[in-house]
Amino acid sequence: MKRLLVLALAATSLFAHAQTYPGSKPISIVVPFAAGGPTDRVARDLAEAMRKAMGGSANFVVENVNGAGGTIGATKVAKANPDGHTLLLFHIGMAATPALYRKLQYKPLEDFEYLGLVNEVPMTLIGKPQLPANTYRDFENYIKANSGKLNIAHAGLGSASHLCGLMWQSAINAKEAMTTIPFGGTGPAMNALVGGQVDLMCDQTTNTTGQIEAGRVKAFAVTTAKPLSKHKLLKDYPSLQEMGLKGFDLTIWHGLYAPKGTPPAVLAQLNTALKVALKDADFMKKQDGLGAVVVTDKRMEPAAHKAFVAGEIAKLKPVIDAAKQFAD
Ligand code: MLT
Repeated sequence: MKRLLVLALAATSLFAHAQTYPGSKPISIVVPFAAGGPTDRVARDLAEAMRKAMGGSANFVVENVNGAGGTIGATKVAKANPDGHTLLLFHIGMAATPALYRKLQYKPLEDFEYLGLVNEVPMTLIGKPQLPANTYRDFENYIKANSGKLNIAHAGLGSASHLCGLMWQSAINAKEAMTTIPFGGTGPAMNALVGGQVDLMCDQTTNTTGQIEAGRVKAFAVTTAKPLSKHKLLKDYPSLQEMGLKGFDLTIWHGLYAPKGTPPAVLAQLNTALKVALKDADFMKKQDGLGAVVVTDKRMEPAAHKAFVAGEIAKLKPVIDAAKQFAD
């Protein structure tokens, strides 16, 4: 009898919480990278669209918790109070880090509630403005002619920029060609590249389009299988596949997560707000201008989002295992 009473009280309080959610307490979207990078950019634009979708009642804040390729921020959310006030926006690193960290402090498929996939973002191979190369062919020849003398920036082991660099160095067999320089995110890494303190980087178009257009960095190729022929700026760059890197096809994706155990009614409210936000004209326009594609298929739903990530974990493990030899 006592156990029944306890269960009834728990259910009542969960229901009551869901009825008042979100209330006046802010909803924090944890970005597991430094401010100013592509993940941060998506989070801030998404937070605005979700605030609108919830009728302006929700107060979203973006919290940057960087380090270890995004796993420090992801761990914080996995261990957070599952009350709907701490969410995680994480990208392909959710699927890449299990192959790179032997001691992850969370299980990607067990310790999170999946709220939906947000977007898919191509990457660009870019260099500092002083690099004496203007085409991809010249760029690759320059890298090989200066083996051991150049450095490539990324956002930590398992980050999108790290994964892209690993795959690219493996594809051109540039073993020992470059030293890798980790940053808290590709926001600060981009500042170093523009300033000429690092030589090259692979980064998402959400962070590189503006810099390429302004001439502050040089672009050499895109990482998608086909060129971005519909984008006014990025259409001018070849895909790595066109440059002879057979099968090279890398697109970064971002998903939204809550800690395991968040009440179902709260999850449903958040998923509904996410789906409305993904159709928000302003959000879609911003994403399109940055070369990103907002998700419109069933992966907006939790089950399909989770199945997609499970598939990505399985797909990336052999790719990373094969390329790990290039990590210094
Ligand atoms: C990455 O390389 O994983 C991201 O660009 C990191 C970031 O969003 O800063």
